[in-house]
Amino acid sequence: MPRTSVVTGAASGIGRATKELLERRGERVIGVDLHDAEVTADLSTASGRAHLVEGVRGATGGSIDCIYAVAGLSVPGPDTVAVNFFGTVATLEGLRPLLRNSPAPRAVLVSSMAALLPSDAELVALLSAGDEPGAIARAGTLAEEPSTGQLIYASTKLALSRWVRRQAPAPQWAGAGIPLNAVAPGVISTPMTAELIATPEGREGLLKVVPMPLNGIAEPIVVARALAWLGGEENTHLCGQIVYVDGGSDAVLRGDSVW
Ligand SMILES: NC(=O)c1ccc[n+]([C@@H]2O[C@H](COP(=O)([O-])OP(=O)(O)OC[C@H]3O[C@@H](n4cnc5c(N)ncnc54)[C@H](O)[C@@H]3O)[C@@H](O)[C@H]2O)c1
Repeated sequence: MPRTSVVTGAASGIGRATKELLERRGERVIGVDLHDAEVTADLSTASGRAHLVEGVRGATGGSIDCIYAVAGLSVPGPDTVAVNFFGTVATLEGLRPLLRNSPAPRAVLVSSMAALLPSDAELVALLSAGDEPGAIARAGTLAEEPSTGQLIYASTKLALSRWVRRQAPAPQWAGAGIPLNAVAPGVISTPMTAELIATPEGREGLLKVVPMPLNGIAEPIVVARALAWLGGEENTHLCGQIVYVDGGSDAVLRGDSVW
């Protein structure tokens, strides 16, 4: 039986590359996005998140093998909080019951190496507490200044990485036989970064913040391959890992400090 997977953010960039890779490997993929997808859903809203679950249930008869939560935004505003953190968590929690009958259930999300960059402790605390109205309000305040607005994206990804670490060993994931993990990409060439990396000066400036000594800026297929492994049958024992697909930025920025 070919595996059936759900990929959010499937219309563009890393999500699209993941969907195409899985389909080339013979899987059935239900793409979810704002447009150009099997299930059209806005993950920034409660109704969109409910529609995601109903749409996937309708398309699959209620049984899937893997969730790839890829959709994300990098604009310095509240929408980024709604999609990156709450949309991702709602995707994973909303679709988890549909993994129940899979012989090899898996779940993967996309965080970012940006979790290592400066963030806002108050926003991260609100996200970790699951306080969406509070987090949206805090993001609104941060968005008033460009210097604090840029902390929003990093805060959502830091909170997501912590969420994975906390959730993965718990009864509802590990206890149910579901490996839950994340990838943390460095700079990937997608519409999200197109403007930033359009000029040599832009690329140079970005790579000073996100050093990528191994092969530099990557194509989305590079991340898709790592996602596909984490979401595939061969991955039986990775639990709560944040796998950096970042050309070395984590190793350069954190060095020995994690051990
Ligand atoms: N590109 C990078 O350098 C990079 C680095 C680290 C992490 N990431 C993460 O990778 C993921 C994919 O990003 P990408 O670079 O492929 O970007 P992208 O902009 O090419 O694709 C993101 C997709 O998410 C969808 N999306 C956005 N808001 C949505 C919503 N409200 N509801 C449903 N879908 C929505 C978009 O329509 C789009 O198709 C994101 O989570 C991003 O934060 C990207």
